[in-house]
Amino acid sequence: MTYQLTESDWFNPGNFTRELRYGSCSEDVLSEIKALKIEKNGRVLAVTGGGGRVLGLLTEDPAEIVAVDINIHQSRVLKLKIAAMKALNHREFLVFLGWCGRPQNRDRLWMRVRENLDSNTASYWQGRIDSVREGILYSGTFERSCRKIAGIFAKMNRRKRVRLYASRSLAQQIKFLPFGWRMIVAISQRLLKFRRLELFFSSSGRGIGLIRSLMISIILMGVLFNALRSQRVRNSHFLQLILVGRYVSARSLPRYLQPEFYESIQSRLDRIRVREGRVDEVLKSYPAGYFDGISLSNVPAFLVPKEFLRLMRIVWIRLAPAGRVVYRQFVLARRLNRHLARRFARNDDLEAELMQTDLAMGHGFFIGTRLPLTTEEEDGLDRSDSRGSLCREERGEMEKRRERLGWRAFSACGKE
Ligand SMILES: C[S@@+](CC[C@H](N)C(=O)[O-])C[C@H]1O[C@@H](n2cnc3c(N)ncnc32)[C@H](O)[C@@H]1O
Repeated sequence: MTYQLTESDWFNPGNFTRELRYGSCSEDVLSEIKALKIEKNGRVLAVTGGGGRVLGLLTEDPAEIVAVDINIHQSRVLKLKIAAMKALNHREFLVFLGWCGRPQNRDRLWMRVRENLDSNTASYWQGRIDSVREGILYSGTFERSCRKIAGIFAKMNRRKRVRLYASRSLAQQIKFLPFGWRMIVAISQRLLKFRRLELFFSSSGRGIGLIRSLMISIILMGVLFNALRSQRVRNSHFLQLILVGRYVSARSLPRYLQPEFYESIQSRLDRIRVREGRVDEVLKSYPAGYFDGISLSNVPAFLVPKEFLRLMRIVWIRLAPAGRVVYRQFVLARRLNRHLARRFARNDDLEAELMQTDLAMGHGFFIGTRLPLTTEEEDGLDRSDSRGSLCREERGEMEKRRERLGWRAFSACGKE
């Protein structure tokens, strides 16, 4: 089943559900772990992507993780990783994914992995056996683009490039940045403040042609160089992917690939429910207040502002009292309107901290804790019209939840 996107594909020209985009994990799940503070037995929803965030969140011992992606290829990558973790030990898992080892070894391991797959997913991967042999970690279009960028860096003086990711301190790393990097960062930061920045990234901005591509390249290069002056490449799997085209150091692999977490993740794999579809639609299939944590990755950037606000209303309804939502902001920021801003308490300190510590480059964060309705809004439940504080769907969900929990319990739990 494929999903037709409406305006949502604007960030990525072309329908981005047609192919596998992420085989790797390009985000630092530790940030989501800190933001969501998942309690043992909590229920979480996370966008699937390459599956690394979902598997990494399992280390926090939630009762259930719903993994959702609009792109079926991403769901299949996660299913393959789950099947591989069930069948293989840690070393074999790394070989199978393609971090190390040879294609012949992967053929042998595939025979064991496929036994843990449903027939649809098994035949899907059998039909893409070349990607399995190559190692699926680097088989998405995102990883292919990273290899191209790495190729450009490879043209730099080789010794300088090796020193860039092997340098022993940040100061040494900065010394090896290419000439002119400061100017690119400065221009990029100026461009990022441009009020109509979205124009560069939207499909409707295509007409701008060459200028548009140039602007995007400068912005992204500036974000990269800026990250390189605050983060060491040897500590960041994301920067290694961009600069070298693969994960280099075993110590900085994404959390789900690290040996110390392997067994605990393995023992909890049955808690993952893989769902295909739009995150708002999937959220709507759960009762109000179901989730304790929701991790949206950078999906908001893929949505036009109106769709984003709609999604956040649905998030609010599906979050349990005092549940948390986190999303990433890369280049394009999405902001709540005044009405929704009153429904979430922002964690400014943690947002600022994660901006410094997160290992994926240039990500900002929104971390919100669900607030209960104010007394006036509560009064408005019966009065509000379509322009009032609550839409009809919210009202229905709130009424149901109130019936289940009793209003007093609901508002008390929701207190911060
Ligand atoms: C930028 S990626 C995150 C991948 C990532 N960087 C990683 O490390 O896994 C966002 C994912 O969200 C999915 N996506 C985008 N819009 C969506 C939506 N409205 N509903 C569900 N998934 C969506 C995309 O298919 C993609 O796999």
